[in-house]
Amino acid sequence: MTILATGGAGYIGSHACVSLLESGYDVVAVDDLSNSSAEALRRVEKITGRELKFYEADVCDRAALEKIFREQKIDGVIHFAGMKAVGESVQKPLEYYRNNLDATITILEVMRQFGCKAIVFSSSATVYGSENEYPYREDMPKGTCSNPYGWTKSMSEQILCDAAKADSELSVVLLRYFNPIGAHESGLIGEDPKGIPNNLMPYITQVAVGKRKELTVFGGDYDTPDGTCRRDYIHVMDLAEGHVKAIKYAMEHAGAEVFNLGTGVPYSVLEIIKAFEDASGIKIPYRIGARREGDLPEFWADASKAGNILGWHTRRSLADMCRDSWNWQKNNPKGYEE
Ligand code: UFG
Repeated sequence: MTILATGGAGYIGSHACVSLLESGYDVVAVDDLSNSSAEALRRVEKITGRELKFYEADVCDRAALEKIFREQKIDGVIHFAGMKAVGESVQKPLEYYRNNLDATITILEVMRQFGCKAIVFSSSATVYGSENEYPYREDMPKGTCSNPYGWTKSMSEQILCDAAKADSELSVVLLRYFNPIGAHESGLIGEDPKGIPNNLMPYITQVAVGKRKELTVFGGDYDTPDGTCRRDYIHVMDLAEGHVKAIKYAMEHAGAEVFNLGTGVPYSVLEIIKAFEDASGIKIPYRIGARREGDLPEFWADASKAGNILGWHTRRSLADMCRDSWNWQKNNPKGYEE
C-alpha cells in the first residue's frame, strides 16, 4: 500500500511518515519546502532504515499532482500540507483561503481523476469554535472560528464531507488535532519553526537553548485553576500513530468520519513550564504578560471515539513530551539548518 503524504516534510507530516514506514506502508511525500526542510525526510529514512519517494511541488499545482499519480500507484492520501500560522492568517486571509482551500480541492479532483478513494485530513480542534463546552466531542456542532486559518480547516472539512456525499466510494477521515508537541524519540526530527515561534513548546525550548531571553505567558487572569490557559497537549508520535490507524480505517470504510486526536487531559501554561524544567533540568525565565487575542481560556478533547473505533490510545506522558522536545532542540539548536 502506498500513501501520498502532502506536507510530508513538515512537523507532523515527517513524524507520521516514520509511523507509516514502520507500519509497512510505502510513502510518497510531496512538499514545496516553503515552511519545511528536505533534511527532515532524509532523517525519516535514517530512523526507519527505509526509503521514501519525494516530490518537491506545491499541492495546488494540479499538473505536478497529476504527474505524481501517473508515476506512483497511490492507494490513499494523508493531506497535511497547509499554511498554519494563526496570527499571520489574520493579516493575510486571502493567501490562507487561496492556498489551503485550493490544495484541498485540487487533491480531491486529482484523486477522483485517478480513482483514489481514501483521504485523511489534518484538521484542528479550532473548528469547535468558542461556543462549545469542553471536553469537545465529535458530535458537537462546529463553531465560529476566531481566525481565517481556523476557517480554512472548517471549510476544508465541509468540502471533504460534501465530496464524500457525492461519491459513495470515497472515504474521508477528518482528524482534529489538539496541541501537538514533542519530537521523535531519536532526537533526529522535530518542530523547526522559522522565525519567532508562535507556539508554546518551541518558544520554551528556544529559551532553554539560549536563543530567546524569556517566555511571555499570555495572560495570568483567566478563570482557570492557576489563571493561565489550559490545553490538551499530545505527543507528536502518538498523533503520528493516529494517522496510521486512520488511513487503515479509511481504506476499509466509505463515507466521512471525524476523530479528535488528543489525550483528554488539559495542562496549564505554568504546568507545562514546570514539567519542562523537571525534564530538562533547566530553569525557564518567564513573565506574565497580556492575554493574546483569540485565545480561549481552556479546551480539551473527549478522545474516546478514536479509542473505541480506531483502537487508538495515547501512550506517552507529559514528561515524555517535554523530554523529547528538549532532546530534539538541544541536539539541533539551529533546527535542520546545520
Ligand atoms: N502561550 C504563551 N506564550 C507563548 C506562546 C503560547 O503563554 O509564547 C500560551 C497560549 O496563550 C496558549 C498556550 O500557550 O494558552 C498554547 O498556545 P499555542 O500557541 O502553543 O497553541 P494554541 O492552543 O494557541 O494553538 C493551537 C494550534 C493551532 C490551533 C489552535 C486552536 O497551534 O493550530 O490550537 O485554538 F488553531
